[in-house]
Amino acid sequence: MASKNKATILIIDDAPENIDILTGILKSYYKVKAALNGKAAIAIANAENKPDLILLDVLMPGIDGYEVCKQLKSNVETAHIPVVFVTAKSEIKDEEKGFSLGAVDYITKPVSPPLVLARVKTHIALYDQARHLEKLVQKRTAELNDTRVEIIRRLGRAAEFKDNETGMHVIRMSWFSRFLAEQIGKSEQWCDLLYNAAPMHDIGKIGIPDRVLLKPGKLDSEEWEIMKKHVEYGAEIIGDHHSPLLQLAKEVANFHHEKWDGNGYPNKISGLDIPISARIVAIADVFDALTSERPYKKAWTEERAIALLKEDAGTHFDPSLVPEFIKCLPKVREVQAQYRDEF
Ligand SMILES: [Fe+2]
Ligand SMILES: [Fe+2]
Repeated sequence: MASKNKATILIIDDAPENIDILTGILKSYYKVKAALNGKAAIAIANAENKPDLILLDVLMPGIDGYEVCKQLKSNVETAHIPVVFVTAKSEIKDEEKGFSLGAVDYITKPVSPPLVLARVKTHIALYDQARHLEKLVQKRTAELNDTRVEIIRRLGRAAEFKDNETGMHVIRMSWFSRFLAEQIGKSEQWCDLLYNAAPMHDIGKIGIPDRVLLKPGKLDSEEWEIMKKHVEYGAEIIGDHHSPLLQLAKEVANFHHEKWDGNGYPNKISGLDIPISARIVAIADVFDALTSERPYKKAWTEERAIALLKEDAGTHFDPSLVPEFIKCLPKVREVQAQYRDEF
């Protein structure tokens, strides 16, 4: 950054004497690099130590200044570097073209040393400020994102405090969901979202009365109807947001009890009408519930749980996903070993 070390200026001009003049003006204050043609300039601009400002001649044989500017601005690596055109007075009619290509300023030849220094100083300062702000925005965005993810995890855990499940259930089933999403080729970003959304699947259980949620025996039909409401409560608690993470969390909460054959709830939708997020989470959730110990049952063996997934493929579960989940078992076992229930 220019504030601590000397900033670097790249001068591009096909006339060595022009480079000499500008170098003479700038060299006491800045590090100066030079290129005699557009091709060399683009190579220097893309090298590791990028210039902080570019002084660019317009008229050059080969690639002219406008083309150089266009190429720099179309590459994410160099697009942000401020470009100042240095041009003879007679060429000034094309000012508009230069600005439209993304240049920040013009200096006319023959150059005035104090004017060159003042313009360069201004644009370097603006560039420093822009970079500083960009970093701040990135930092704040990352903080916001972390906070959002953390709140979602905490809410997921809040539901478990009332339930029979332990904190480890949502951790494990979130990993299983992620593995299955990765296995079927979903993008890294989407797998991440699903991993962070899955812990909220049963958040709606907060709204279920204890007499139903914590009843030791089987639920009667009236109690079962109350229990089923947890999916709608979950969707309502999460609400409607612009955040893709919360949108996915809502989708998962709402649809994770739908079944492939249309016999699930709350909407009795079937097959591909059930969002893929919910079809994935349904498998991850049931598999973990089966293979975990609960106050009312022993943990099933992996073999027995997989046999059930296979048996219910095409009725409860998406039949194309069950074999993909089975391919994830080595990773699933690692997670089970790492996040064991503690009673
Ligand atoms: Fe549920
Ligand atoms: Fe669950």
